[in-house]
Amino acid sequence: MSMTIFGKSICVLGGGGFLGSHLVEALARRHCARVTAVDRSLSKLTCDAPQVDRLCASIENPDVVAYAVESHDIVVSTTAICNPALYNTEPLAVIDASFTHLLPLVSACTKAGKRLVHFSTCEVYGRGQLDPEGRTLPMREDESALVLGPVHLERWSYAAAKQLLERVIIGCGLHQGLDFTIIRPFNVIGPRMDFLPGVDGEGVPRVLACFIRALFQGEPLLLVDGGQARRSFIYVDELIEAVVRILERGAAVAGQVVNLGNPDNDITIAELARLIIRAFEHRTGRTHSAGTRGVPAQELYGPGYDDVDRRIADISKARRLLDFDPKVSLDSMLPSIVEDYFVRYGKAYGL
Ligand code: UGA
Repeated sequence: MSMTIFGKSICVLGGGGFLGSHLVEALARRHCARVTAVDRSLSKLTCDAPQVDRLCASIENPDVVAYAVESHDIVVSTTAICNPALYNTEPLAVIDASFTHLLPLVSACTKAGKRLVHFSTCEVYGRGQLDPEGRTLPMREDESALVLGPVHLERWSYAAAKQLLERVIIGCGLHQGLDFTIIRPFNVIGPRMDFLPGVDGEGVPRVLACFIRALFQGEPLLLVDGGQARRSFIYVDELIEAVVRILERGAAVAGQVVNLGNPDNDITIAELARLIIRAFEHRTGRTHSAGTRGVPAQELYGPGYDDVDRRIADISKARRLLDFDPKVSLDSMLPSIVEDYFVRYGKAYGL
């Protein structure tokens, strides 16, 4: 095993979020000296390992950025507003969270000579490219064109902001010596994702939480435009293991952009609904009689929404550099995800 994080201190910005909290817990089990979780809320972070420090703060505060960079060997940035429902309703906040608020961090890491591991997104690929037969091509880090929809469709505000920050990071790497790795996760799902509207948040979360809420409420699962869009889902533990390897194998991934996803779990959203209903029914022993219902995208998201028909990661780079080999199927991950939602939210729904 590479030991490049042995004895190192790591700051996880967004350490109270879905991916951040899983990462902090995984790092606490490894050999780093200290992990600092920074977030505005740390309620998802249940880990109480002695080497984990918590800082309830925003990265909009310059002192927090200075502390993260000056007092740690490596900074991991996971902060963003990553719910599509907000891309067209709160685009300025989305752009600030994914771009403006992170510029001081990139600059501080560059000046201080600190390593930055940045969570970008598969959304930077936009709609993706098609082959001559109209099939979606797998998205490749260093070759695929990044094809967004029209600017007036504000859905693409997040992708554009994330793309631009990647360009800043890569520019600082090539021209000013920043040591960085950029990660592009593809539809990670698992325990503690997003929020359930009406219980611990408001609005429209990503698809997993939308479906779980509908199941708890006994309502139909909404299938946007019939649920024909496809996504390939990766289980959070497999993604986090790869991120830990990125932290451990500094030199091998320096200056790289790396896709992390599971192309084998590529399914339609309608099929995902069917699998989640089945896992939920198995857990409750009851039939979800409300089923599913097709809705126009505008009804759920409002004007300015657009969608990605299909998104498949080419993971050959991650296989080569990280021995990445995701294996967990949707059938095997969904029961434990459903169980986690029951443990955290069952009481709120009287179950
Ligand atoms: C989002 C983010 O934009 C990405 O940056 C992020 O990488 C990705 O989630 C992720 O989870 O990793 P997207 O895949 O569009 O992208 O997010 P979802 O909101 O989970 O939507 C997936 C699909 O389900 C879309 O086609 C959406 O229209 C559909 N959907 C969503 C439904 O059919 N019903 C719902 O109730 C909610």
